[in-house]
Amino acid sequence: MFARDDSDRDAPSPATRRSSCIHQLDRRTFLQRAALGAVAALVAEGFAPSFALAEHVAQLTPIGAVGTARTYDIPAQDGVFVDVAGEVALARSGGRLFAFSLACPHRGATLQWKTGEQRFFCPKHKARFTTDGAHASGRATADLDRFALQRAGAQVIVALDQPLEAKSDPAAWAVAVLVL
Ligand code: FES
Repeated sequence: MFARDDSDRDAPSPATRRSSCIHQLDRRTFLQRAALGAVAALVAEGFAPSFALAEHVAQLTPIGAVGTARTYDIPAQDGVFVDVAGEVALARSGGRLFAFSLACPHRGATLQWKTGEQRFFCPKHKARFTTDGAHASGRATADLDRFALQRAGAQVIVALDQPLEAKSDPAAWAVAVLVL
């Protein structure tokens, strides 16, 4: 039996984590960086960014935005696609597409992507998450927050206003996936 970790009792809400993540990323810094440079910063060190960017991680630019909803072209291949300004990552794997908040579900640190492991990685407490957002190992005890997705032809509309938390809303979290 595992001992309860009291430090997680006051874990921030998904919206607070996302806000914290946005603060950490510093919008001004983001906007001043080249977009691919910012994406490269989200790739965990230890892997050649050129390889990682070419093979698994790419910049994602919305083709439309209405309110807090953003429209993207559905990625044509498996990989992780990051909209830096929107603080959202699309992950396509095994015929399924997910949209994740870049804020770690533990304390809101900005997630990275470990190409060699095919895992999202939180550098703050070394948590790892699979491409469907499930917690795999490390300090965090929750799955990644997802966003709801809606297909519109060759595009996907992502609702960024409300991150879906696996623990508090498991039903909504479970269906936040697009089967391609
Ligand atoms: S902030 Fe603690 S595991 Fe991510």
